[in-house]
Amino acid sequence: MTGITLVMGSGGVGKTTVAAGTAALIAQSGLRTLAITVDPARRLADAMGIGQASDPTRVAGFAHLDVAMLDAAAAWDDIARRHADAATARRLVTNPYFRAVADRFPSGQNYAAGETLLHHAESGSYDHIVVDTPPAEGGSAFLAAPRRIRTLVAGRALRVLTGPRLPGRRLVYSVTARPALKVADAVLGGRLLEDVAEFLLDLSAIYPGLARRSRAVEALYAGAGLVVVVTPDPGPIAEARRILSHPSGATRAPRAVVFNRVVPHAWTKAPPAPPDPVGANLSRWAAEAARHEALRHSFSSHTGVTPIPLPWLVEPPASPLALADLMRSAGFDPGLS
Ligand SMILES: Nc1ncnc2c1ncn2[C@@H]1O[C@H](COP(=O)(O)OP(=O)(O)O)[C@@H](O)[C@H]1O
Ligand SMILES: [Mg+2]
Repeated sequence: MTGITLVMGSGGVGKTTVAAGTAALIAQSGLRTLAITVDPARRLADAMGIGQASDPTRVAGFAHLDVAMLDAAAAWDDIARRHADAATARRLVTNPYFRAVADRFPSGQNYAAGETLLHHAESGSYDHIVVDTPPAEGGSAFLAAPRRIRTLVAGRALRVLTGPRLPGRRLVYSVTARPALKVADAVLGGRLLEDVAEFLLDLSAIYPGLARRSRAVEALYAGAGLVVVVTPDPGPIAEARRILSHPSGATRAPRAVVFNRVVPHAWTKAPPAPPDPVGANLSRWAAEAARHEALRHSFSSHTGVTPIPLPWLVEPPASPLALADLMRSAGFDPGLS
């Protein structure tokens, strides 16, 4: 069975960086590894040689490491093609409402990452997959996305608008919804009514398949290891605690927390400095290092997980090899052996 590691945290904390380092470390242990990544910084993307490819490509310098970009729009097109007949799928992928869910909604992006993960896990080509989660919302929303998507597709809104299912009832929407949709069309002067009705009817066609796949995605999440990335800031710390307290978190192992961009511990002991601007600056950094240290201790006493500090670097390493070295020397262990 393919092992899974989900890398989570608030936007901008270093998820993509840590995901690349984690995948590189796992690949070095000899496992056939895939990193599914989102929105990497330019230098990292160049170092991994990925461009915009959503198909896995081999990372130079590694025998067992592939990387693939998450392409949420393409993942939703696959969902439509997988679960609807050809004509319905064609209508869905060109429908503006479907496109909005696929391209723009955070839940849509989050769910697409799960589907992409499931697709590669089922391929049998990998021993381990590391998922860099999308930047929108945060990790707890990522875990909730499969359920949210089911609720959207099976939910009350859809039933009200489409009424009980009648075969061959295209563009006949329920009596309850008709007045509201008519007003919308008159105000907006478009074919909103028709597009919405068509979208909702077609969407209900993919529900059974989507429900099954989304449960399979949830099962993968429930057995996945978590790497939570956090910086010494209140927002990211609160998000990390939400992720660790997610209901299905109890069954997950292993879990690691990376405290990223911390001022190294050694700086807490600033040498006696002369009372000039340089000395004042050293004292300020010593105070900052002490603050980071205190935050790490308090995090660990609240969550029971001891965070691994990654230093705040002037020039963060961009190559997967250098990232693996950095994480290893910080004491990070992907927990697979
Ligand atoms: N330890 C670090 N020291 C300095 N810069 C870092 C560190 N970790 C990440 N960065 C930089 O911070 C930026 C955001 O990191 P990234 O991994 O893309 O975050 P996320 O995926 O969470 O949005 C990138 O430019 C990255 O190179
Ligand atoms: Mg990122």
